[in-house]
Amino acid sequence: MATVGVLRETAEQERRVALTPDVVRRLRDRDPVLVESGAGSHAWFGDDQYRAAGATIGDREQVYAGSDVLVCVHPPCDVDRLRPGQTVIGLLAPLTDPGLAGRLAAAGVTALSLDLLPRTLSRAQPMDALTSQANVAGYKAAIVAAEAYGGYFPLLMTAAGTVRPAQVLVLGAGVAGLQAIATARRLGAVVTGYDVREPARAEIASTGAAVLDLGDPAVASADGYARALTAEESTAQQQALQEAVTRFDVVITTAQVPGRRPPVLIPATTLAGMRPGSVVVDLAAGPHGGNVDGSVAGTTALVGGVTLIAAGNLAATMPQAASSAYAKNLLALLAALTPEPDLKDEIQAAVTVTHAGHIVHPAVRELLEGAAP
Ligand code: NAI
Repeated sequence: MATVGVLRETAEQERRVALTPDVVRRLRDRDPVLVESGAGSHAWFGDDQYRAAGATIGDREQVYAGSDVLVCVHPPCDVDRLRPGQTVIGLLAPLTDPGLAGRLAAAGVTALSLDLLPRTLSRAQPMDALTSQANVAGYKAAIVAAEAYGGYFPLLMTAAGTVRPAQVLVLGAGVAGLQAIATARRLGAVVTGYDVREPARAEIASTGAAVLDLGDPAVASADGYARALTAEESTAQQQALQEAVTRFDVVITTAQVPGRRPPVLIPATTLAGMRPGSVVVDLAAGPHGGNVDGSVAGTTALVGGVTLIAAGNLAATMPQAASSAYAKNLLALLAALTPEPDLKDEIQAAVTVTHAGHIVHPAVRELLEGAAP
């Protein structure tokens, strides 16, 4: 039995919580659960609900001190409060923030990062937090776009005449993009999708959306993700997209390459060519830029009459749905863990970043060694 602790998230505008009362109830049969007071309040899960589910409520200090396993969405901001032997599980992004992994190793903590999960393993699918959160974000991106757009999404026949449906383009058709396509279609828009991977192109077609043909060959890496395009490929893609994008009323961008900054699909010149009143939602916007040149995550700008929403962390704006899914992902991972990390197990080997004072994940170690002076 290991006490599982839930910390209140402290990142700006974060409303999710790592465990919901429902999941606490299921976990409680095996492990005691300690929840920081107010941890779920932004997702409308009150302390009383956690108590009723069998958790103990404590202050932050008590959760740090009394937990064997700390679960979170973002990495805990106060690493110095962790103690050797404790386990931390969350979306720790060690490939983009290897410095944190170094600090967690120095603290003697066992750190497990859900964003390193081998997602194609069928055993890992119930734990796939990247997918569960991308699903929420993709859905919300279509809603945000519809809200910002000054016209209807569906075709409407009114007494005053027929209103044409919105033309929506979704760039990047992974989990978030496919969900954005499905949602925009449910709202009645005429939707077109585009991706560099061949399987993603087939998936766009299977939703009933049109597939944008730029005449470019499909690319992919061995692990099923897109590889970064070369500078020449990227320039050719931007040029081909420039002509295509201006035909649309709404563009939702979701293109990502794991471990790299998001590719720029819409440079300033393309944005300038779009019709006033168009809307662009850049779901890839984050600390390292987005798919639109000049995207600043979490901001909305009016650029020559085009509303550019650099959406950043949209999953956090639907905290009930996102937390419920994330908590189930954690429950599945917790059930698969052994008391000591078993690095022969495919899942544990993939997600374990630090253990017993060392960085045990080879890709993270390489990054840190590369960064050393
Ligand atoms: P992601 O968030 O890394 O990227 C989103 C999309 O952007 C991808 O479809 C990618 O091909 C596309 N992209 C990258 N560069 C681009 C460019 N320059 N132009 C246009 N599109 C570009 O991907 P996500 O959503 O995390 O997952 C992608 C893939 O991962 C899946 O399609 C699948 O192969 C694999 N996966 C498998 C799962 C399973 O087997 N259960 C579950 C989840 C993901």
